[in-house]
Parts: sequence; C-alpha cells; structure tokens
Amino acid sequence: MDTMSFGYAEYDPSQTPHNETLFTLANGYLGLRGDFEEAEGTYHKGTYINGFYDSEPIIYGESAYGFAENHETILNLPDPKRIELEVGNLPFSMKRGVVHASSRSLNYRTGLLTRTVDWSSAQGDRVKITTERMVSFTEKHCALITYTVEAVDKALFIKLTSFLDVGVRNRSSKDDPRVGSKFTSNPLVIEHFSIEEETLNFSAKTRNSGLSLYGSAFHTISKEALAVTPSERDLALSYTFSLAKGESVTLNKFIAYTSEDDSAPFRARRFAQESFAFHAQEQEAFLSEFWKVGRILIEGDESSEQALQFNIFHLLQSCGRDGKSSMAAKGLTGEGYEGHYFWDTEAYALPMFCYLKPDIAKSLLDYRFSILDKARLRAKKMSLEGALFPWRTISGEECSAYYPAGTAQYHIDADILYAVEKYLAATGDEAPSTYVEMAIESARMWLSLGSFIDGEFCINEVTGPDEYTACVNNNAYTNLMAQNNLKFAITLVESYQQQDKILPLVLEKDELESWKLAQKTMRIPFDKRLGIYAQDDSFLKKADWPFATTPKSKHPLLLHFHPLVIYRHRVLKQPDLVLAQFFLSGLFTKAERIRNFSFYEPYTTGDSSLSHCIQSIMASDSFQSLKAWTYFKKTVRLDIDDSQGNSVDGIHTASMAGSWMATVYGFAGFRDWKGTFSFDPKLPSAWKALTFCLTLHSSVLKVELRPDTVIYTLMTGESIDVIHRNENFTLKHGESKTFSLVPKLGGVLFDLDGVLCDTAHLHYKAWKQVSDENLLHFDREVNKGLLGVSREASLQVILDHNEADWPQEKRSEVLKKKNDAYVASLDSITPSDLFPGVLDLLSDLKTHGVKIALASASKNARTVCKKLGIFDRFDAIADITSVQKPKPEPDIFLLASEQIGVWYTDCVGVEDAKAGIEAIKRSGMPAVGIGTKSELPGSDIVLSGTKELTLELLKKVVAGR
Ligand code: G6P
Ligand code: MG
Repeated sequence: MDTMSFGYAEYDPSQTPHNETLFTLANGYLGLRGDFEEAEGTYHKGTYINGFYDSEPIIYGESAYGFAENHETILNLPDPKRIELEVGNLPFSMKRGVVHASSRSLNYRTGLLTRTVDWSSAQGDRVKITTERMVSFTEKHCALITYTVEAVDKALFIKLTSFLDVGVRNRSSKDDPRVGSKFTSNPLVIEHFSIEEETLNFSAKTRNSGLSLYGSAFHTISKEALAVTPSERDLALSYTFSLAKGESVTLNKFIAYTSEDDSAPFRARRFAQESFAFHAQEQEAFLSEFWKVGRILIEGDESSEQALQFNIFHLLQSCGRDGKSSMAAKGLTGEGYEGHYFWDTEAYALPMFCYLKPDIAKSLLDYRFSILDKARLRAKKMSLEGALFPWRTISGEECSAYYPAGTAQYHIDADILYAVEKYLAATGDEAPSTYVEMAIESARMWLSLGSFIDGEFCINEVTGPDEYTACVNNNAYTNLMAQNNLKFAITLVESYQQQDKILPLVLEKDELESWKLAQKTMRIPFDKRLGIYAQDDSFLKKADWPFATTPKSKHPLLLHFHPLVIYRHRVLKQPDLVLAQFFLSGLFTKAERIRNFSFYEPYTTGDSSLSHCIQSIMASDSFQSLKAWTYFKKTVRLDIDDSQGNSVDGIHTASMAGSWMATVYGFAGFRDWKGTFSFDPKLPSAWKALTFCLTLHSSVLKVELRPDTVIYTLMTGESIDVIHRNENFTLKHGESKTFSLVPKLGGVLFDLDGVLCDTAHLHYKAWKQVSDENLLHFDREVNKGLLGVSREASLQVILDHNEADWPQEKRSEVLKKKNDAYVASLDSITPSDLFPGVLDLLSDLKTHGVKIALASASKNARTVCKKLGIFDRFDAIADITSVQKPKPEPDIFLLASEQIGVWYTDCVGVEDAKAGIEAIKRSGMPAVGIGTKSELPGSDIVLSGTKELTLELLKKVVAGR
C-alpha cells in the first residue's frame, strides 16, 4: 500500500458526498472540494477562499444586549472545476452509459488529485478520461486542471465545455446547528463576466461584507480544435475535437482566484506560461520539503500510517499562511460550521505546526493579532477591559449566536496565549511586541472578568471546553488556563522591563501586582474527599447522566436533548479538566493525572470530535495502553471512515490534528512543558516501529521508536537538550542516542505491614479495642477489608459494616484512640518481628544496585522501621501524609519510585493487601502479592510469604516473564 496516497479503484456512488470532502485540494487560501468535474453525479460543488465570507444580521427570536450581531459564512464561490464532456452528442456522467472502471487518488507526495474513468455512452462510444487537479502551494491564487480524453476503439467526435460556473450556492440546512447557511438572498453578486479568447473571467462582490472576488480560467489544448464556441450566458468555452481511434486530447485549465486585488486574469495567464509538468514539479518540491519533517512512519500498521499522513496533509491544506486567515474547523473542504475559526486552531492544530512547520504556526498567531482591535471592541461590549477574542468568527467579530456554548467560552483568550507560549518555547524565538500586546490585553480581560471573593480570584458564569456543561462558576479548565495566561503575561512584561525594552502598551500603576495576586489566589475547585479537581463549583453536585437508559440512537446527546437537560447532569461532551491536565501537565502529579482521567472518563461521551485524541493521550499517560490505542483508532480515521457521520460537511481538523498529538504526545510521550522537551515512549503493541521528526529550536530531532528501544537523532542544527523519561541528555549535530525500553528491575517498593513484618495483628488489636468500646461489631473478617487501607478509611469500613455514621469530631477522637493503642503496642516490636528472609533480600537488592523504597499507608511507618532496625536500609520512605489519596490510588507508589529516581515501569511493588495491589497496577508497575491469589486479584505473581521473594524472581516479574 502506498501510504502517501489515498483513493479508490472502484466507484461507489453512495460514497460520493463523503468522498468530495476527502478529495479536497487546498493550499490554505484556495480550496477546491473534491467534487467531479461534471455537474451530474455530484453531491455538492464547493470552492472556497479562506476568510472569504458574507454576513447578515442574526435573527433572534428573543435578543438581548451584547448578543453576537451578525453571522458570517464562508461563501461557496463560482465553480472553476466544472468541465462537461460530450461523446458523440451524449453527455458523459457517472450516472449514464456504462462505467467500466473508475478510480481516484489523492497523492500527498505530489499534491495531485488524479481521476480515471473508462466509460461507454449509451451509443457504445468508449472513452478513457484522465483528470489531474492541483491547487498550488507556491502560487496561492492558482489551481490547475488537466482533462484528457482518449477515443478507445473507434474514431469519435467529442466536445469539452469548460465553465466558471456562477450558478453554485452555499448549502443550507435547517435541522443540524452544525451545517448550513442562513442567507436570505444570494450573498455573492456577480458584477462582470467576460470571455476573451481562451479566458473566462468574472468579478463579484459580497452583498454585505464588502469583499471583492476575481476569477479567471485560461485554457490551452494539446490538439487543434474543430471549433471553439464561447457561451457568455454560461460563462463557458466549448472545444470540439475529432479523435482518431486511440488518439487523445488534453484540455489544460489554469485557474486564478483573487480576493485581494483584480489580478486574477493576469495570474491565470502567467500560471499558464509554464507547463503542467513544471507546476507539478514545484508542487512536489514544496511538499517534499514539508514531508522531510512531517512524515510519520509506522511499521506494522499501514492503515494508520496512511490515515495519519492524510490528516497531516489536510491540515497543511487547511491553514492560512498569510497572517490574515486562520484554519476553519472544516478546513476548506465544506461549509460545516460556516467556515468559522474556533479554538481548534490554537489548541489542537497549532502544536503540530510548531514542530513541523513553525512559519504556519506563526502565521496563525499573526492572524489573531490582526483581529486584536476587534477583540478590544468585543471586550468593551462585554463590559470588560483588554481584549476578548471571539469564540467563533471569520472577520474577528463574535458570531456565536448561542452564547452558553459560545461567547461564554472565555477560555479562548487563554488558549491563544497558551499557543503563543508554546510557539515561542518550540522555536526559541524572542517574543515580538505583537504577542506581548496580546498577552497584556488578555491579562486585562481576565482581571476584569473575575473577582476576588473571600480571598480567592473567581471567574464566574463561564463555559469550559465541555459544552455539555454551561454557564458555571469557576470552570477548572478556564481558571487554570487563565492562571497560566496571567503568569505568561507577567513573565513577558517583566522580561521586557528587565531588558529595558519598550512595552507596546503602558501599564497602569499596580496593574502587574493585581495580575500576580489574581494568578496566585486563582480558585481551582478541588474535592478533597474524591481527590479530584471538580470541573466547576457545581459539577459534583449534579446527578449522573442516565447512561444505562440512553440508547445509542440518542447520541450525540446534543441532537436529542434540550441543552438544559444536558447541563443539569454530570456528563461531558469532551475532556475538560483532563484537557487542562494535558496542556498544563507540569502542574500536576502523575497520580493526579491518572486519578482525574479515570474519574472523568465514564462521564465523557466523546460526542465531540475533539474528545478521543485527548482521551488517548491521557490514557497513554495513565499506563492504559490498550485504551489509548482504542481512542487513537477512533480518532485517526474519523473522516476517512466517516465515523461521526458528518464528514460530508467537511473534515474535522481538530480531530485530525489530535491524531498527530495522540501519536507524538501520546505514544511517544512527548511533553514540552515550559520549553523542556521530554519523551516517555510506549509503542502500541500492534506497531513494530514509529518514526517521526520534530523541529525544536530550528533543529530537527528524529525519534525512532521500536518495542525495545528508542533512538533520538539530531538531524539538523547544532545541539539540543532532551529528556528521555528522567534522564537528561544533549545531542549534537548528527549524534544519536539509544535507550532501552525493556523493563529492567531498578527499584522495589515495599509495603510494610504484612509484607516486611507482622504488624497487622497489632492494628487488628487496636481496632478491636476501640470497636468494643464503641459497641461496634468487628472481627477478623471485617479486618480483611482494612489491610493497606488508611486509618480514616479503615474507620469508614467499620462504620459502614455497622451501618453507622459519625460526625467528624467523634471520628477524630476514635481515630486518635486507635492510634494511641497501636503506637503503645509498637513498644513490643523488635528486629525479630521482621518476616524471615527480609534482611537477606534487602541486602541482596542493595548489593545488586537495586533501589529500595517503602510505600506504606501507615503514618507510623518510620517508627516501625526504626524498631525493626531497617530504617537505614531504604533509599526512600515515601511519606503517606504528603500524598493526596491513599491506596488503592497510585499516589504512594508513584511517589516512592520518583523518590528513588527509578522509572515507574522499572519498579515492582510488593503488597499483602488488595488495595495495595490495585495501587501498584494503577502506577503502571508489576505487582507481587503476599497472600493468596483469590484475595489478591490483579497480582502478576502471588507468594505465600516474603521469604519466597528473591532478586531473580523480582527481575523476572519486571521483565514480564
Ligand atoms: C497499613 C495497614 C493498615 C493501616 C494503615 C494505616 O497499610 O495495613 O491496616 O490502617 O497502614 O496505618 P496507620 O499507622 O497510619 O494508622
Ligand atoms: Mg500491608
């Protein structure tokens, strides 16, 4: 399979609408949807210019102050692709005559779309048609179509008619909020059209937005025509040919569309001065430069490799490169979401461009600067200082007619500044004053949006990324990202001040201080009991969505339930807090990321195409490879397989970019937190190898990942600092460094009670004593549930068993009593209480350089170890009071492995409690159980006593043998 192309060899008319999207060619400016040349058999002919739109007032049933005033819709332009063929007076179409064979192929290497049809008319006249199409990456206004017809088995008369079809319109759809235009009249007015010899021309103006468009098509033919007939009415030129048997003729159509000036006729003619072969070569040269860094190779999974290249190619086609346009959510492939720019650009696509083609990333950010003044006006309208970027727009004006899932998503400012920060860190560039200006204005916006309430900076009445929860107080994602935005603005301003550079805006007295206070006191909702960040102040007080009784046919929920019904429940369209944990990874411990991902996952419907890729990345981060793989599969072919059922309206650029992120940030574990580049690779088991490149500070780093090794090579540039897992290294030009990924025993993390010594019976006695005193039933059976469980949770188990509920005061009192009794009993402990074999094992591990840590849930662990005489044997004793949650949460094991500096997967945990085994497994480590198999499910191996544990055995367990 050629993974650098995508196509079909058999024609299936039912796929035509969807294929038109997939076969789109574009260059970030001009987009030609992949519809056929002829009108018949086409679903929707589409031609777009990025940012070329018209607007009309939004008609609200009930309006209110500050509602977005106008909708803006990308316009479907006169169709330059249209060419009709007649064979012996009968029109060619896929719906008539006999289609003997038909194929289409989009080649990402050449940037060409090729179509072949072997067809006979009803009269039996057989022709072979080959068309090639290109939208030039080097001449942004230009495109080219070649149309070749061959008379197969007899001499034929044929006619080719080439159009600039001014009859096309935007699609309209009333039922799905995601598609269709709302124009009351034709928004594009054709002002002039003309035919001058072999050239078709038109000029047009939009009705309201005041934009001009000029289009031209210049034709050349490979053989003299019998007749050339212009049709002014149709803006078409017809060429009649007589072909001998086996003879062919080619019509070349050189197209130019301009929206900035009237140069289209000139550009079309100039483009036609060079041959198709010349332009094809230019196109390939541009792409070859891009693929040098952009190419991803996957051994063992051609289908994913092909889809990834497809996605990357489409993203390259979708992004504006002129600093005046951005990336529509659907690229230039269709009219879904009206051609609007959302946060998809900065949050999803921009990271990829930072590392594959930084000039595009820059251009996308420059677009944001170009609309800063409009964002300032919007801020004023919304009673804010600074600048508020629009949730969805083309021109820079807010166009979200449904404010709860639009304007309320204030996080757009923070997403843009996060992208600026990423871009600067990835390229190592100094911040230009334009970005500093955006940072200052966004910081001002946050300060005026939020308020200091009870000592906390609160941001109320906003919507986060999850659109199934709207207009809430203190959305964690928003507040975290706003905090990051403020910190970034402070850093930029201070660095300008330190360098005595003039700031683009004058700061008010104390302004910087107020930003500092806001970011420091930012409210981040956190639920202590669950140990998770609440999505917002109200999220945890909502009832769960009734998933069990919601049939598949009722998904996506947004098409089947009133928003209020959805908002009332605990249900997510896409990751929210979890997304913040990906973006701001360095702010959270591994344990926090694992716990929050697991908590939110069951509530996350994935109804947004922006969902699966983030889930995949965070599943990878959480040692859940299989899950990561499943989510990746749902993302990578989302448009090719049309799994959301709406690819006909356009590609899902965010999901496409997400598939790159799931590969690089997910499987390769790339992180770029504050400009530090690190990797934690975990190749999917279905893959034999993954190779990709990243541009880091204008150096190109190649990463080759195999099941057992990873190789980092600096392809270009002088040197770069990289981190593999927890090892820092520097690569010089041409240097490679290889790391083994085979798990190798490096650390053993021991539980204490029941593993190293028998203190469990002392805990039992103490619990028995306080239970008896309080008339609670407690016996050996109940005690089993207490193993490895924290003191507080143990009491809860006993209370639950007795169906009792106590106030906190009473709990604290009894917990103290229990602990006093337990501590008193510790007096009797001596080294002889160590289990047999423990000392020898600890010595053996030390001799062989294996690090040893204690990961006990007991706050008395240190005392016990001292009494046992093994305190000094440990390289680290992880402190249970410093972690967020006890076992079965992974915190203590992750902390222990971090303290001994051994990578998680090179550690093994030893436990006698079910909760402990669970904690070890959640930490991505193999687990040795001490006890019985039935009581310790999930253990990689179960031993009856610690004395059976040897260095050799531990090595085998870690190696997975
Ligand atoms: C260990 C024991 C538990 C005990 C817990 C807390 O995990 O197996 O039975 O409840 O530590 O101990 P502490 O000494 O802090 O009460
Ligand atoms: Mg234990």
